[in-house]
Amino acid sequence: MPHNVAIILAGGKGERLGFSIPKQFLKFAGKTCLEHSVHVFYECPEISQIVLVVCAEYIEQTQKLFANYANKPILIIKGGQTRNQSTFCALQALAPQIEPNARVLVHDSVRPLLSSNVLLQALCALENYDAIDTAVLAIDTILEAKNGIISHIPKRENLYYGQTPQGFRFAQLYAAYHQAYKENPKLDTFSDDCGLLLAYCPQAQIGVVKGEHDNHKLTHVQDLAYIEHLFYLKTSNVTQTIARLKDKVIVVLGGTSGIGASIVQIATQYGAKAFALSRRMGVDICNYAALESVFCDIAEKNGRIDAIMNLAGILYKQPLVQTENAQIEELVATNYTGNLYVAKAAYPHLLRSHGMLILTSSSSFSKGREGYCIYSSLKASIINLTQALSDEWSVENIAVNCVIPGRTRTPMRIANFGNESSILLQPEFVARKYLQTMLANNTGMIVHVSPNHVFSPCEERAE
Ligand code: CTP
Ligand code: MG
Repeated sequence: MPHNVAIILAGGKGERLGFSIPKQFLKFAGKTCLEHSVHVFYECPEISQIVLVVCAEYIEQTQKLFANYANKPILIIKGGQTRNQSTFCALQALAPQIEPNARVLVHDSVRPLLSSNVLLQALCALENYDAIDTAVLAIDTILEAKNGIISHIPKRENLYYGQTPQGFRFAQLYAAYHQAYKENPKLDTFSDDCGLLLAYCPQAQIGVVKGEHDNHKLTHVQDLAYIEHLFYLKTSNVTQTIARLKDKVIVVLGGTSGIGASIVQIATQYGAKAFALSRRMGVDICNYAALESVFCDIAEKNGRIDAIMNLAGILYKQPLVQTENAQIEELVATNYTGNLYVAKAAYPHLLRSHGMLILTSSSSFSKGREGYCIYSSLKASIINLTQALSDEWSVENIAVNCVIPGRTRTPMRIANFGNESSILLQPEFVARKYLQTMLANNTGMIVHVSPNHVFSPCEERAE
């Protein structure tokens, strides 16, 4: 197999974002941005080695993060003061052991959503060019200006936004770096590696590989929310086969009607032991002691609990000022506090089984809904809770995910919205998505269930 190496640059401080830790160590969907960025290279059979360049203070933490990555060598080294210095550190570390013609892909650790498709295209394109850059066509018109005066407006159709990975043959890039270093040991002139190669090796043909807008770089605060949303979309498409449910022990709160009842029915059909709990059966999620006792009872009788799903929720479709205070309290207790109680009472059991908690939100989380603001704002809190708990529990191997059922034909929906003319999802379809989520080996997912899995943050319809 040809020697293909990935260099992942994580030696920056993230000053523009301005957090107390470098941005590559922030978490999305239960894993650090750095782990997501490395993952696609780690999973790619064509990549034989990975070099991770990090700042000195984070070497130990990075070694811990990747301690269990045993399938291919991951070399963790100290970076430099600039991005180019960090690349040079990696090339120097590789120099004694690498073939001159080996392919080297350099990737930013702050682009956590690189697809395996773009990665493979970048590798293949190195057969046709000396080097490659991944890029997307510019959306905005780009101006060249000096001292506030425009000097040139290049044609937009020839302009691209450069991304990573950038790909090279080792010897050519290394030689360019030696030249650059000789002229300016600070290596602070260029913002990327293709720029440096082009300056010191102008004869090099650098091809363009079509990138993806999702391969977005975390730079400023607003990128955080954008990348978070891209992760929601990416994880919405759960497709696991539910035949793997056999012998799983599943507890479903809100399990005696609507989607919850369907989950119990389907899981049982596939050989799981599924337990439906609800107020009707004397288990109110607002009663912590009752939850503790019923979970212990089920765990004792069945040896463990693999998953606890909470679908219990209530909705009064009326404006805030027409809502009685007792109703406000009831809504908060069931739709929020109850989730905290379920999570807390579930914890010891899921810790033992390395199991999964699944909470339920609503697409109204993304935009407050006129007419039922209490419900929609509480559902927003469940997304936040899922993110926090998935991070808090990931080291203990407990997964926490959230399902957002689209408009589904349930008793709660019909009671509040009447008989709607538009097509509603069948509870069985949504129930299968809960079970597929449970079988996906992932945490921090926000799984949108809609007929085509398209999520629109500004969707106006009530859910
Ligand atoms: N990088 C690096 N070594 C440096 C500087 C940057 O390895 N001395 C890496 C970053 O960790 C990041 C990538 O280069 O993965 C792109 O750089 P950038 O987005 O500029 O990250 P930072 O330099 O960390 O951010 P800022 O410029 O806002 O400080
Ligand atoms: Mg920088």
